[in-house]
Amino acid sequence: MNYSSHACNINTPFVTLNCNSILIKACIFDLDGVIVDTAHYHFLAWRKLAKEIGINLTEADNERLKGVSRMRSLEIILELGGVSLSEHDKENMANKKNTWFVDYVERMAPEEIFPGVRTLIKNLREMGIKVALASSSKNARTVVQLLHINQEFDAIVDGTMVTNSKPDPEIFLLAAKKLCVDPKDCVVFEDAEAGVEAALAAGMKCVGVGSPSQLRRANKVITKTGEFQIAELEQL
Ligand code: BG6
Ligand code: MG
Repeated sequence: MNYSSHACNINTPFVTLNCNSILIKACIFDLDGVIVDTAHYHFLAWRKLAKEIGINLTEADNERLKGVSRMRSLEIILELGGVSLSEHDKENMANKKNTWFVDYVERMAPEEIFPGVRTLIKNLREMGIKVALASSSKNARTVVQLLHINQEFDAIVDGTMVTNSKPDPEIFLLAAKKLCVDPKDCVVFEDAEAGVEAALAAGMKCVGVGSPSQLRRANKVITKTGEFQIAELEQL
């Protein structure tokens, strides 16, 4: 796909920040583990499924599942346990995990959004910086609706809209295209190693959210999304 040939009709005057000779025009947020702790719900549901098939899924193993698609996550778990299943059984297992995950999510309250995230998004947009959501999750729209933040993004790209899961850059390139912003002018917020790789492969800067040892390739790592200061965009 040629992402640069997309015709853009958005004429919003950008307030831009100078970032090592690039101008930051957009921030792209991952969802699970960046905006809300649904990453933990994914883990609980995968651990329950793994246990059913006799595999002990640890938090360390779970790092490999972050950011990748539902089916790829299942395949990693099966690889860890040395288990092989037919395509039909894999579909059933993935559906089962999703039912449990959706069950957790439906009980979620809007207050579960990480502190400071709503304000960060609002402040970025007030400065003229575009904001997109780019999540591998096919449940992303449901989650942002439950958090009442679906109107806060200039674009939403989710797992139903891409062919290749992170670490492939497709999802971020599509988000940039929807925002009519050049990838080099985008900063991605990510908690997954696969997501950091995807952002860099897209030619974007990346702020890692989590542990510096896990996200060492990110341009900067913060502990919590809400603690990010917009002025820091200039120092990436
Ligand atoms: C990502 C999560 O955002 O979405 C992964 O980090 C998850 O852990 C993936 O597997 C797919 O989510 P879903 O909701 O489509 O199963
Ligand atoms: Mg994530």
